[in-house]
Amino acid sequence: MNNLKQNITSIARKTAIALLVVSSVSGSALAAGDHLEGAPEAKHVDWSWAGVFGTFDRAQLQRGYQVYKEVCANCHAMDLVKFRNLSQSGGPEFSEAAVKVLAAEYEIEDGPDAEGEMFIRPREPKDSMPAPFANNNAAKASNGGALPPDLSLIAKARGHYSFKDLFMGRDGLTGGTNYIYNLLTGYVDEVPEYILENDHHVNEMGKEADPNFTEQHFELGDSNFNHFYEGYKIAMAAPLFEDSVEYTDGTAATLEQQAEDVASFLIWAAEPKMEIRKSIGIKVLLYLIILAGLMYAVKRRIWENVRH
Ligand code: HEC
Repeated sequence: MNNLKQNITSIARKTAIALLVVSSVSGSALAAGDHLEGAPEAKHVDWSWAGVFGTFDRAQLQRGYQVYKEVCANCHAMDLVKFRNLSQSGGPEFSEAAVKVLAAEYEIEDGPDAEGEMFIRPREPKDSMPAPFANNNAAKASNGGALPPDLSLIAKARGHYSFKDLFMGRDGLTGGTNYIYNLLTGYVDEVPEYILENDHHVNEMGKEADPNFTEQHFELGDSNFNHFYEGYKIAMAAPLFEDSVEYTDGTAATLEQQAEDVASFLIWAAEPKMEIRKSIGIKVLLYLIILAGLMYAVKRRIWENVRH
C-alpha cells in the first residue's frame, strides 16, 4: 500500500515537472519582433471571442470574409473551407440563399457528364473556395519564388499554446490571431532604425547573434520589412491599407479594423466548432461541480454513523 502511494506521488511529481518544462520551453510566435532594443511591442487585441465565454461577432466574421475574398484570395487558397460552412451556426452565418450567390460567383470543373466530357459549372455551397493558382509552382512563380500558404488552418498553425498562457489568458486561447493582426499591421517601407543600430547583431533568422560573429548587414532585397515576421523579411508585400475594401455593413475600413476582422475570420476557419466546444465545456464543468457536491453529501451520509 505504501509502495503504491510512493509510486503515485513520484508519478505525480514527474508529471508536474514535465509540464513545467514543457510550458517554459514552448516558444512565442510574437517573440520574433520584440527582442531588439527599440522594436515596437506586439499588440494584444481584445477579441470578442477570447476567453471561456467569448463568442464570435457575426458581423465581424462576415467582414473578415469580405477582406479574405477581395484581398487575400488573390494569392491564398482556403482549400478546407466550403462555401456552405459560411452559413453554418457558430460562423459568419450568412443565409443559405446568400451563400448560394457567393458560391455561384466562381466556376469549377466537374464531370464527366454522360458523354464522358468534363464541364464547367458555377460553384455550389458544397464546393470549396476557389484557389487563386492552378498549383504551387504557379503560385510561387507569381510571388517571387515564395509560396503563399493555404490559410485554412494558418491561425492555429501560427498560434502557440504554452501551458502558462492557457491559464493566464492572453494568447493561450486566442491562437495565432494576435500574430496575424500584428503581421498585417506591422509593415514599414524602410528598414527601421532599430535594425540598423543592431545591424551586426541580426543574423539570418533575425535573432540576436553573437556580437563577435562576423559582421552581417541587413539587406531587404526584393522582400518587405515587417516588424513581426521571423527574420523581418517577408515576400508578401503589405496586403492591407486603409480602405482596401469598402465594407458592405458601412464599418470604417481602417487598416486595424480589416486586420482584426480577417484574423477573426481565419481563427473561425481554423476552429469552426469553437463556440460549440466552449458551451459544452461550460456545461461539463457545471455538471462536474454539481456531481462533486452530490458525491460529498453521499460520502457524509454513508460515513455518518461509522466511527473513523
Ligand atoms: C500578392 C499576394 C498576396 C496577398 C494579396 C496576400 N498574401 Fe499573404 N503571403 C503571400 C506570400 C508570397 C507569403 C509567403 C511569405 C514568405 O514566405 O516570405 C504570404 C504569407 C502569409 C502568411 C504567413 C506568414 C508566416 O508567418 O509564415 C499569412 C498569415 C498571410 N500571408 C496572410 C495574408 C492575409 C490575411 C492576406 C489578406 C489580408 C494576405 N496574406 C494577402 C502573398 C500574399
